[in-house]
Amino acid sequence: MPAAGRAGILVFMAPPPADVPLRQLIDLSGRTAIVTGAAMGIGRGIAHRLHEAGANVVVADLDESAGGEVAAAFERGRAGSALALRVDVSDQGGVEAMVEETVERFGSLHILVNNAGIYPTAALAQLDVETFRRVLDINLTGLFLCTKAAAAQMIEQGDGGRIVNITSIDALHPSMVGLSHYDASKHGAWGFTRNIALELAPHGIAVNAIAPGGILTPGTGGMDEQMMRRFEAMIPMGRMGDPDDIGRAALFLASDLSTYITGAQLVVDGGRLLA
Ligand SMILES: NC(=O)c1ccc[n+]([C@@H]2O[C@H](COP(=O)([O-])OP(=O)(O)OC[C@H]3O[C@@H](n4cnc5c(N)ncnc54)[C@H](O)[C@@H]3O)[C@@H](O)[C@H]2O)c1
Repeated sequence: MPAAGRAGILVFMAPPPADVPLRQLIDLSGRTAIVTGAAMGIGRGIAHRLHEAGANVVVADLDESAGGEVAAAFERGRAGSALALRVDVSDQGGVEAMVEETVERFGSLHILVNNAGIYPTAALAQLDVETFRRVLDINLTGLFLCTKAAAAQMIEQGDGGRIVNITSIDALHPSMVGLSHYDASKHGAWGFTRNIALELAPHGIAVNAIAPGGILTPGTGGMDEQMMRRFEAMIPMGRMGDPDDIGRAALFLASDLSTYITGAQLVVDGGRLLA
């Protein structure tokens, strides 16, 4: 347990006890997680693993009906364990209400996964300022707003927390032409992750990123078939990723399997960045 430090800041000085059984390290019972963009794709894969590990999960998404179906499936598995909220992560009022409603329903908030994001492709000559701003608004400003609202709640609770930001291999290296706006947003998300990790560490809040490579989701399903084949051919592990590949990594970063990691970016790309 953390010890109280100066000015209410928690200082996690003691190493974790060595005798905690493995099963307990991934047990999220009694914890509450918000996963943005959890109605489908990667967010849904992450929400599934966190819920399976025992967390109460808030499925926060623009798509109310798909989000409602995901939450209903969780509820069938464990009654009282899920809540669907319609939220646009780029809307400050909506994001603050999301955290308030989460706490009203489950009493506290321990885990935030900033996953909601968009990736429309456009070469520079076709890239209009509205699209540029929308991508930055959702992928970067949205991540900031959710982090701010969730961190305030975690700090008030005083027992730490976990924030996992879904960036992209594009936060490190461009994957294809036509994603300049997206790459700007994801580089920003990675820079934000590192600085906020520094700021929140004294509160026992770990902030990390996962950089997925090509993952098969409804979002990538709409992409040009030829482009996808070319992308796939450059993956050393020989396959596109599955949302559960990211779900497993997120469970690691959201659970007590990772007690001394903050400000890190876990690349989950089947080796794509090596090629
Ligand atoms: N799929 C990939 O290959 C891949 C690779 C690297 C990074 N990523 C990142 O992973 C995240 C999820 O990608 P995906 O492929 O699962 O996408 P997806 O399009 O399949 O699903 C995205 C979900 O986010 C929701 N959403 C969109 N805008 C929102 C907003 N303003 N507020 C709340 N919810 C919103 C959508 O309704 C949808 O349910 C994104 O941040 C994306 O940049 C994806």
